[in-house]
Parts: sequence; C-alpha cells; structure tokens
Amino acid sequence: MLAEVLSALDPRPGERMADGTLGHGGHAAEILAGLQPGGCLLALDQDPLQLPATETRLRARGFTAESLILRRSNFAGLPRILADLGWTGLDGVLLDLGLSSMQIDNPERGFSYKHHGPLDMRMNPNRGETAAAWLAKADPDKLEAALARNADEPHAPRLARALAGRQLETCEALADAVRSLLPGPDAEAALPRVFQALRIQVNDEFGALESILRDLPQCLNPHGRVAILTFHSGEDRRVKQALAAGRKDGTYAEVSPSPLRPSAAEVRENPRASCAKLRWARRAGGT
Ligand SMILES: C[S@@+](CC[C@H](N)C(=O)[O-])C[C@H]1O[C@@H](n2cnc3c(N)ncnc32)[C@H](O)[C@@H]1O
Repeated sequence: MLAEVLSALDPRPGERMADGTLGHGGHAAEILAGLQPGGCLLALDQDPLQLPATETRLRARGFTAESLILRRSNFAGLPRILADLGWTGLDGVLLDLGLSSMQIDNPERGFSYKHHGPLDMRMNPNRGETAAAWLAKADPDKLEAALARNADEPHAPRLARALAGRQLETCEALADAVRSLLPGPDAEAALPRVFQALRIQVNDEFGALESILRDLPQCLNPHGRVAILTFHSGEDRRVKQALAAGRKDGTYAEVSPSPLRPSAAEVRENPRASCAKLRWARRAGGT
C-alpha cells in the first residue's frame, strides 16, 4: 500500500519524518525521496540483524547522514530519541506493524510454523525470553489469555491446557503438538493464530503499540500526519480507538473515515498484504 501511505503522509521537501518500522526500507526510500532536498527521515527498527543490511542499501542509494538517521530501537522509544536529537516534532510518522518477509522467511528466527527452526520469535534476539522459554513457564490461564487476546483463538482453552508448561524447543515441535490436539483443518487454521499469539506475547507488541499511540500527539508538529498499517484485528482495534479518541478531543483534525485496503492486484502480487489495513490521521494546528 505504498501509494496510499505516501498519499497519507504527503512528505514534502525540508520536512522531518520518522519510520518506526524500517524493515527492508521500501517505504523509507520513497518517503526519503519526498523529503528532499533538505528533509530528514529518522528510521527505527528493533531488529539488530536486519537494520545494518537496510542501512547499507539506503546509503548506497545516496541517502547520507544528513537526510537519514537510523537507530536500533523499539518505536515506543520515539519520544526519547526525538529528545536526544533535539527535535521538537515530526511532520509525519509511519508504522508498518508486524514482521518483514526477511524475518518470517529466516528459519533461524523461529517465526513460522512452515519452517524448521528454534522456537525463538524475538524481533530483538538480544533481549527478552524466547517463545520456547515463555511457553515452558506459562500456566494454562496465562496461555489461554494470550491466545484469546493476541489472536482471537477459538480453541484457546483446550490448546492452553495441553500446551502450557511444555518444553517445545522448535517450531516443528509446537506445530506437531497443535496438530495432535485438533482435527486436521482446525489445526491448520489454528497454527498461524498460535504462532501470532506467542510472537505478540514475547515481543510485547500491544504494549509498544499502546505506548506509541499515547505518545504520538506529542511527537507530531501541528498538521503532522501519521499512517499506520495493521495486519490483524488486535492491532487495528487499538489504532482505530486511539485515533477516534484523538479526533474527539481535538488532537487530530482529521482521521481516515474507514481503513484503506490493498487492491486485488497488490494482494495477487503479495498475498501477505491481504489482511493489511491502513489508517491515517492529521494532527490539529496550534499547540
Ligand atoms: C512489516 S515490516 C516493515 C516493512 C517496511 N515498511 C518496508 O517497507 O520494508 C515491520 C518491521 O518493523 C519492525 N518492528 C516491529 N515492531 C517494532 C517495534 N515495536 N519497534 C521497532 N521496530 C519494530 C520489525 O522488526 C520489522 O522489521
């Protein structure tokens, strides 16, 4: 949804924007082009493995330290980074939530039930517990709550009773355990939800999202724009509610009336985009 994101952010020469989820840098490169001459993009990603590769690619395209600043950070740290840089506000912020294809397709990262690899799932592998460690310590109530809250899993009670406290060290071991508990089609439907629920849990994704949604107004200049791409209902609900509350109290002058969805052609080209929803808002003027 590159065109829709650019239309919502409307980057102009000389402005300062932030991409809180740099990933492969596809959105960032286009935003950067719109900010030149004279503008600057602050690009964040909490993943220490893919950030250097993306930086090398963007620098090779001619974006110097004047126009592109990179930090390995959770986007929840945006207010602190802005303060460190001495920036008083941003003209635009992009959040493209979730995982990049590079992360999903790397078996060593343990994000996918389709790969053989350690059950890790940390976006920052230098921090926090792996999904395997979290699962081994979880009691059934805690796991059931995570499955229900993070993925609306209809079989949460049954899966939680059987999986909580288990030592499942690989993606394959967890997938096999789910398949042994549910009939074939139910298990195949549950697998992406179980993996999503654990990933959200070990990375505290909702905590980070709620934190940035709270802090966004103070990070944006008057008339600053925000664009947020979400990929499941738990993310979209939080974004929708925060933007609607900001519209109601006058923080935002305008918010997207309904989420924008990818075109059929984009979904054909990139099936992972099929659940994407884009919401945007524009900060009110004044202080
Ligand atoms: C969907 S990808 C972004 C793709 C990017 N827009 C592009 O054009 O290549 C999401 C990226 O955000 C990062 N990420 C997810 N949650 C984050 C968070 N709370 N703070 C910082 N980075 C995060 C992931 O590590 C991943 O690289």
